[in-house]
Parts: sequence; C-alpha cells; structure tokens
Amino acid sequence: MTEGKIWLNGALVDWDDAKIHVLTHGLHYGTGVFEGIRCYKAVSGSAIFRLSDHVQRLINSGKIYFMDLGYSKQQLEKAIIDTVRANKMDECYIRPIAYYGYGKMGVNPMPNKVSVAIATWKWDEYLKSDGPEKGARVMVSSWTRIDTKSLPMHAKGTANYANSALARVEALKAGFDEAIMLNSAGMVVEASAENIFLVNDGTLFTPPITSGALEGITRDSIIAIAKENGMNCEVRDISRDELYIADEVFLTGTAAEVKPVGEIDNRLVGDGRIGKTTKQLKTMFETIVHGKDKKFSKAWLTPIN
Ligand SMILES: Cc1ncc(COP(=O)(O)O)c(C=O)c1O
Repeated sequence: MTEGKIWLNGALVDWDDAKIHVLTHGLHYGTGVFEGIRCYKAVSGSAIFRLSDHVQRLINSGKIYFMDLGYSKQQLEKAIIDTVRANKMDECYIRPIAYYGYGKMGVNPMPNKVSVAIATWKWDEYLKSDGPEKGARVMVSSWTRIDTKSLPMHAKGTANYANSALARVEALKAGFDEAIMLNSAGMVVEASAENIFLVNDGTLFTPPITSGALEGITRDSIIAIAKENGMNCEVRDISRDELYIADEVFLTGTAAEVKPVGEIDNRLVGDGRIGKTTKQLKTMFETIVHGKDKKFSKAWLTPIN
C-alpha cells in the first residue's frame, strides 16, 4: 500500500510525494469530503463500479460544504480512470478526497483553497470474519449516530467519520467485528461504514436515508438487484430488537461489499452463517461487478481501457 501514483490537484505524483501541510484546514476542522469506489477485474478487462454515481455523490458532498472542486464531473471521472491505469492494478479500492487546504486557520474554511486527491490501493477484505460463509459478529454501539440536525448526512464528509471511528474502535476493543449505530430516536441507522439490511420471510428491510444513513451506492445496487429478481424490499424504520429476531442480516458498502452478519449483541442470526437470501444477493452482486450480467454490468461498469 505504499507504491504507485497518487493524483494530486491535476498531476500524478509518486506515492511518497503526495504530502500536505500540517495546518491543512481539513485536518483540523474535518472540512473534507471523500468517496470510496472499487475497480474490479471484469470479464472484458478491469472496470470501475458505478463511477458516475460515486463522482456525483462527491460533487454533491462538495456542494453541501460550499466546495468548488475545480474540476468538472467528466474531468474527475477521467482523473480516477487515469490513476487506476497509472497504477496498473487489475482490482483496487479508489479513494478520491477533496478538502480545504492550507492557508488561513480558524473555523471558517472559505479562505482556503480546495485540494483534490485520488489514491488507489489493494483492499481485499475490509470487514473480516472467520471466513466468507461465517457472518460478522457485531454489537450495537453506545455511540449515537450523528444525524442531519448536526451534520449533513447526504455528504460523505470526513467529519462524519469521527463518530464512525469511535463506534468501530469500541466494537473492536470489545471483541466484535463491527458496530451498528442507532440514531437519537433509538432506531437502527447503519454500521460504522456500511448500510444495513434485514431479511424476514424473504422480504428485505433497510432504514430510510432520513434515519441518518449514508445513501449507499451498494445499498442502492442491492435494492435494484432485489427488485429485478422479484424480491420485496421495504425501506422503513427498524428497531434494535428487530435485529435480534431477523432471519438474516447483512451489511453493504464499497469496501465491505455484501457481508453477512452472524451475531448481534451475542445473539445468533439464524445459525450464524450466511443466509439463503443474503447468499443469493451476494452472488448476484459479484456476478455484476465482474461483468457477467447483461443488464446491470453494462449500466454500472466503466471499463478503464
Ligand atoms: C457510513 C457509511 N454508510 C454506508 C456506506 C456504504 O456506502 P457505499 O455503498 O456507497 O460505499 C459507507 C461507505 O462508503 C459509509 O461510510
């Protein structure tokens, strides 16, 4: 994870040269927005999954924070493709970030220039459990998920991740794989860096974006795949106790992909292994990202060559 090129403000620079000043505004005050994207080895060559949607979310995040990224959507997409190409990786995780840079200290970010960077690295399994069939062990966090009363949850803002990091560290220190977060009304929102789904009698349930969840692109993909395959999917509030008695629970995210949950607060979900519906959706998702599905692969994959 220390080799290759990083795109920084319009130029591809060596990994070790992509440096910032210690008085960078975003570092002190959390005034940055970012994306997480994946490039997959597909049947007809490497391709980026839902590139346009990720770049649009980055632009929207920037708009919310009054950030002029300085590049058009098309330029950002090209910069991402150029970075992946330069690093000659079949598959990788891609991290574009825009942040208020070095200039003037103080909470107001506006006097500072916005910098944009794009890095890529190999990130095989983000959310580890004891094997792919075994579900992750999760706990409900003691930290309340921030919501739109405090921070704009439609923005994938770096500031949101202080809340996520506290929850994730708490879970890891307690011996769990991941944290599930509730909002101030006590309803389920998402995990520290993934959206959440429940399955009951074959129907999917996921909390609404208004709960405070990020509008996940993997979440949206799963909803579309489920609908295409005749499954019901209800977007509605979910209470903590519903998690304990669900047939299946799984998490979705660019880094974690589709990850089954096997245990919540020491209560088994099913038999602790991946459930039937989760397995079906995970398989379909993998088929699509690897370019083997006619409908979705064509619409969602951008070839890098
Ligand atoms: C807090 C949070 N929720 C949900 C997600 C899933 O979003 P996506 O599927 O777009 O990666 C992420 C990851 O980006 C996240 O950080």
